[in-house]
Amino acid sequence: MTPCPQFPDDFRATLVNLFLWRRDVRRFKPTPLPEGALERLLGLASIAPSVGLSQPWRFVVVESRERREAVKACFERCNAEALTSFRGERAALYARLKLAGLNEAPCQFAVFADHATEQGHGLGRLTMPATIEYSAVMAVHTLWLAARAEGIGMGWVSILDPTEMATILDTPPQWTLIGYFCVGYPSQEHSVPELEREGWEVRRPPTIMVR
Ligand SMILES: Cc1cc2nc3c(=O)[nH]c(=O)nc-3n(C[C@H](O)[C@H](O)[C@H](O)COP(=O)(O)O)c2cc1C
Repeated sequence: MTPCPQFPDDFRATLVNLFLWRRDVRRFKPTPLPEGALERLLGLASIAPSVGLSQPWRFVVVESRERREAVKACFERCNAEALTSFRGERAALYARLKLAGLNEAPCQFAVFADHATEQGHGLGRLTMPATIEYSAVMAVHTLWLAARAEGIGMGWVSILDPTEMATILDTPPQWTLIGYFCVGYPSQEHSVPELEREGWEVRRPPTIMVR
């Protein structure tokens, strides 16, 4: 049996730096990812925990120019609609935010959660069917960190219509959209989230209850 590796202090300090510098990235250099990098990152994402070991994440890599344009149009419409839900200063601030990197990101893919999968034999899903989506999100976060460790940035785009996205990407009806992801080398590095830098929101300490 392979012995469990040790994770010394300097590794832990580096790991904390990885968490601190991960960032949701929306500004990319045009440089494409090296050959095989995306496949490797998707492989690492698939080590993530999943309910009943169901591994329900499904990746749809979007290369077609027509489909990318359709995703961009979907985002622009949803974003314009979202803007109407804000008033005054908040609306003005929202309008200034950059909430996707669809024009620049050299690599783009969608993640879906497959509710029809028989992998895992339904373990853990009966009372909480949403655990299928939670599992797909675990894969996303694993990928996010793995990418950042290689200097690759990722941005999550959720300002999209899931029904329209399923049509654009021609996906099976049992797959639910988790998100659309823009990936590439960041053109800027920050330890503070963009929404905090822009004055939209601040990070706060955790809410913890003791019962
Ligand atoms: C479920 C989810 C959906 C998100 N959707 C968007 C989005 O549509 N557009 C965007 O710019 N950022 C999106 N984000 C990124 C968040 O705004 C970002 O994670 C947050 O501001 C904290 O910044 P950080 O990831 O750089 O720490 C999303 C993040 C999550 C987890």
